[in-house]
Amino acid sequence: MLKEIHEQPQAVQTCLAAYVPSLKSAPRTPHPTIFPAFPATLNEVHILACGTSYHAGLIAQYWIEQLVGLPVRIRSGSEFLEASLPMTANTLTIGITQSGETADTLTAIALDKQRRLAQASAFQPRLLGITNQPDSALSKLVDWTLPTLAGTEIGVAATKTFVNQLIVCFYLTLELALSCKAISPEKIQTYSAEWSTLPTKIRAVLELETQIKHIAQEWGNRQHCIVLGRGISQAIALEGALKLKETSYLHAEGYSAGEFMHGPIALLDAHIPVIAIAPTDSTHAAMIANLRKIQSHGSPIIGILTEDATPETATMFDHALILPAIAHPLSPILSVIPLQLLAYHIAVQRGLNVDKPRHLTKTLSE
Ligand code: AGP
Repeated sequence: MLKEIHEQPQAVQTCLAAYVPSLKSAPRTPHPTIFPAFPATLNEVHILACGTSYHAGLIAQYWIEQLVGLPVRIRSGSEFLEASLPMTANTLTIGITQSGETADTLTAIALDKQRRLAQASAFQPRLLGITNQPDSALSKLVDWTLPTLAGTEIGVAATKTFVNQLIVCFYLTLELALSCKAISPEKIQTYSAEWSTLPTKIRAVLELETQIKHIAQEWGNRQHCIVLGRGISQAIALEGALKLKETSYLHAEGYSAGEFMHGPIALLDAHIPVIAIAPTDSTHAAMIANLRKIQSHGSPIIGILTEDATPETATMFDHALILPAIAHPLSPILSVIPLQLLAYHIAVQRGLNVDKPRHLTKTLSE
């Protein structure tokens, strides 16, 4: 797991090299595998995925809704059988699965495809797969596949495949924004420039490892922990909590910081640490207000901040992990990494086999 965490700058570099040129080229030459056949009219996007891939889907939902303006519905593959998404017209359905073999996700996609095939043309399936295994069962089900190019991932906890799923989802968002004329070519250039800084910025985040190891030593024996984020960071709160649970067996709950105030705050005392993902974005002021309230109940707080946070903000935390500043929508790609490292170091400190956590296999294919 640690090796795979440290492979992230290179994995991201490889992925960017494959996708960014098609965005930058003028005249545009869209990605050959999908966009020549991409539907001209699109009313909606649906996303089906499980676990960490579901969290990538939540971030894709945020990006597509905020940057393209298309409505996005997301459902866990494991829920689709009982509660399918409405069968809307002109809909792109995206399946996200690093393995391409997760039974819950594949069943959901197959069901959606089957029910749509019997309908009028506007309702026909338009299926896109995002996977790290382009030769998997997923690719046989869908019309187009976007590979995440993260290289082999052996650890049960998805790390580099998640970050590369985010790269591909952001690429897809920009392609959709261009087709829907929701974004200017100049803005694309800005994002492309920002994107190219990611490998260097990820390396800078990895340099926080010694500090994170100390935090793991100090707090790793706690029974419970809360992970909070607002806006786009909510999904990273869920993903960080999942990483902590599956590798270190620490009971961690991921929450929207705003929702946390509506009841769960009653859980807090001085024994329950809170990890707050608080990049300097449009949610920052509200997040800090929530955290001041939380602090008044005695809970220790680890802040995951960006370097453009004010000095007063940085000093309010028991520990502050400072990430490089990045254009707001891309912050999840950096903020998940300290949580991966924390989960790893707590697990190691507890003497656990991080690569093979109990009760889990890498792929739930049945
Ligand atoms: C990730 O760390 C987990 N092991 C798990 O949640 C996983 O993401 C989920 O089972 C889905 O797997 P997939 O991406 O291969 O479909």
